[in-house]
Amino acid sequence: MLDQICESVLQAGEMVRSAGDIAAKTHEKTSAADLVTEYDVALEAFLRERLLALLPGAVFFGEEEALEGDPSRGWAFIVDPIDGTTNFVRGIHPVDISVALAKDGMVEYGVVYDPWRRELFSGARGGGAFLNGKPIRVSGRPLSRGIFLMGTALYKREYLRPTLALTERLMARSCDFRRLGAAALDLCYVACGRAELFFEYSLCPWDYAAGSLLVTEAGGVAGTMEGAPLPILRRSSVWVSNRVNAAVVPELLGGGGDLPRQEF
Ligand code: IPD
Ligand code: CA
Ligand code: CA
Repeated sequence: MLDQICESVLQAGEMVRSAGDIAAKTHEKTSAADLVTEYDVALEAFLRERLLALLPGAVFFGEEEALEGDPSRGWAFIVDPIDGTTNFVRGIHPVDISVALAKDGMVEYGVVYDPWRRELFSGARGGGAFLNGKPIRVSGRPLSRGIFLMGTALYKREYLRPTLALTERLMARSCDFRRLGAAALDLCYVACGRAELFFEYSLCPWDYAAGSLLVTEAGGVAGTMEGAPLPILRRSSVWVSNRVNAAVVPELLGGGGDLPRQEF
């Protein structure tokens, strides 16, 4: 199953690499900060057809189309056809395609592909995590000798101040930070040891379902900023880290923070 999902995702990556005239195919969803391109929609339709052919009867939970069915029961594909759409539109390259396959609400397979760097992150529950077929592990570095990644929860502006406050506190404990603009890759970069920790106050299941499995399979920890397991049906805060820094975010938030439950 994992190989077949990878095959479909690699083909979708070809569609990203060959995309032309992106500006003319870009539209605003809810604001100038919330963009969708015709490629997001076309890739999701392509992945829907390919993935459901692998597992007829599975639920398909993608970013661009209305959800039909309950992804917390039976098999469900959870798909972000283009993660990092703002980067894609502007020719900034961290962009990925993210596909998770869950069974009864538990992610069993995860695939995240960066078509520009041709980096395919993949893994299955209990089977480890891989980058282009080679096993990956989180780093063993403490944050004081490492870097962190963060996202700005740009679709939920009420989280801007806490985001900047936590960024400042983490900066005081680390060497530096990066904001890639593609959450699934943020998670993969922690999984393969390029960074030590990532947080974002508000993400959707298609942003983190695949990447969070890869982090735990690579020996790291993943959860909400309140310290709960990541949900599969609604928006949530997310933080992931290597083992050494597992306590840092809950500690800085004073007991894990107290965030309201987030709906779509
Ligand atoms: C977004 C990116 C971004 C993150 C946002 C996500 P999209 O996904 O992952 O890094 O900060 O919260 O929504 O909209 O480009 O698929
Ligand atoms: Ca996304
Ligand atoms: Ca997207």
